[in-house]
Amino acid sequence: MPLPPPPGARVSPSTARNRDPILQALRPRLPERGVVLEIAAGAGEHAVHLAAALPHLQWLPTDPDPEALASIAAWRGAAGLANLRAPLRLDAADPDAWPTDPVDAVVNINMIHISPWAATAGLMRGAGARLPPGGGLFLYGPFIQPDVETAPSNLAFDASLRRRDPAWGLRRLDAVTALAPACGLAFSERLAMPANNLVVVFRRI
Ligand SMILES: C[S@@+](CC[C@H](N)C(=O)[O-])C[C@H]1O[C@@H](n2cnc3c(N)ncnc32)[C@H](O)[C@@H]1O
Repeated sequence: MPLPPPPGARVSPSTARNRDPILQALRPRLPERGVVLEIAAGAGEHAVHLAAALPHLQWLPTDPDPEALASIAAWRGAAGLANLRAPLRLDAADPDAWPTDPVDAVVNINMIHISPWAATAGLMRGAGARLPPGGGLFLYGPFIQPDVETAPSNLAFDASLRRRDPAWGLRRLDAVTALAPACGLAFSERLAMPANNLVVVFRRI
């Protein structure tokens, strides 16, 4: 039964729809133990849902936005989960400033189209620098796929993002994948998700 929002917590309507499909995609692919670094945790609802469902993992939510960090902290306080760590400020575009502790997996939900390309490049570089061999970087969101016709809803979403900020917009999957080798990562899987989203998995070489 989902928790009611505690004071100070934000709610994202899409999370109620996508959190279980994301959990189903991640559960068999995450390690059996260790630390999962969540980048761009936003409101913090995914962090609570995923940490509650995966108690064998330590969940470390991060975001650069102070309001997001406050919301994550509020959800965390209400959830009382022993495996959900306090949120940290982290900018994906600046991986040299990330915590230096190694992590066992990296999860990034709905960020790379709502941030400049430097955030995607930094995400790939930072993940490659911290994951152990075989460790996974999991991206969730809408992509432009060269071999798949883009859904009209995603084309409209792309246009609306670019109107809000010309540096934003749906990313081409092949452009993201092209970053991988220089980051010590290899493309592993592309999973079709509801509402024309994907989970894309890269593994540390
Ligand atoms: C659309 S929200 C997604 C939040 C959450 N993952 C979800 O799916 O509900 C985008 C998030 O990306 C974060 N973000 C934007 N630029 C970022 C960057 N350079 N590094 C890390 N996070 C960033 C924002 O602060 C925001 O929380």
